[in-house]
Amino acid sequence: METRSKSLLSAEGIRKSFLFRGSVSTVLDNVNFSIEEGEFVSIIGPSGCGKSTFLELLAGITLPDKGVIRSYGADITGKTGILGYMPQDDLLFPWLNTLQNILLPVKVKGRNTSQATKQIEALLPLFGLQNHIGYHPHQLSGGLKQRVALLRTYMNSTKVLLLDEPLANLDSLTRSQLQTWLKTIVETLKLTVILVTHDIDEAILLSNRIELMSKNPGNFTRSIKVPVQTALEDSLQIELKNIIKAEFLEL
Ligand SMILES: Nc1ncnc2c1ncn2[C@@H]1O[C@H](COP(=O)(O)OP(=O)(O)OP(=O)(O)O)[C@@H](O)[C@H]1O
Ligand SMILES: [Mg+2]
Repeated sequence: METRSKSLLSAEGIRKSFLFRGSVSTVLDNVNFSIEEGEFVSIIGPSGCGKSTFLELLAGITLPDKGVIRSYGADITGKTGILGYMPQDDLLFPWLNTLQNILLPVKVKGRNTSQATKQIEALLPLFGLQNHIGYHPHQLSGGLKQRVALLRTYMNSTKVLLLDEPLANLDSLTRSQLQTWLKTIVETLKLTVILVTHDIDEAILLSNRIELMSKNPGNFTRSIKVPVQTALEDSLQIELKNIIKAEFLEL
């Protein structure tokens, strides 16, 4: 008998294969996953295990060969625009300024732009962008660009964000500042987040739960609950890191 999940978001029995130069490779097979409202789940796994592919499926950008994506039980497989998705190589349009870049999904959806502009203006200080509204991407630092992309993702969606390595390619200081900032944003705006990352410390800092993924075909192999940060002692942090590292020697 089929059991239908009523989670905020669930993936059930997902298989995804790609045909490349005449041969089929199964990237994900029988993948099951769910997340509840207000959870922050990080996905960690080796390069090429299918993390980005999985987020694309959740975002409805690609279709699974088998299985279903649900939100509160409703089938949302292949439906875009329901969840906020920030791809691994999210690009801002170089000819648009900060405000125009953030407004783009609003325009594409045909929503009222003056109302959205007011909402964006109110959010700018929280995203630390109030002084860069007229700047074009080449005039912004890497950290600022990521914040513009995050605000754009937020404006595009409900309160569910799928973030594919949003803080990669930043220097470690900027990265650690943005991790703290992201934590504040998520708490302030009461977001539900799925974050793909290679950074174990980042996952421990930000998540309530870490899902480890294996390769060939990709699937979730282990789920680790992260205790509340204030109660997280150094020894526990080291233990968590060792558990994750033991699964992936390459990380
Ligand atoms: N459109 C496609 N056509 C063919 N193969 C693809 C396609 N998209 C992804 N793949 C393959 O699927 C596998 C998983 O790719 P994916 O980008 O999901 O990995 P990942 O876990 O996000 O890796 P990374 O950590 O490096 O970002 C890779 O072997 C990749 O080459
Ligand atoms: Mg990826």
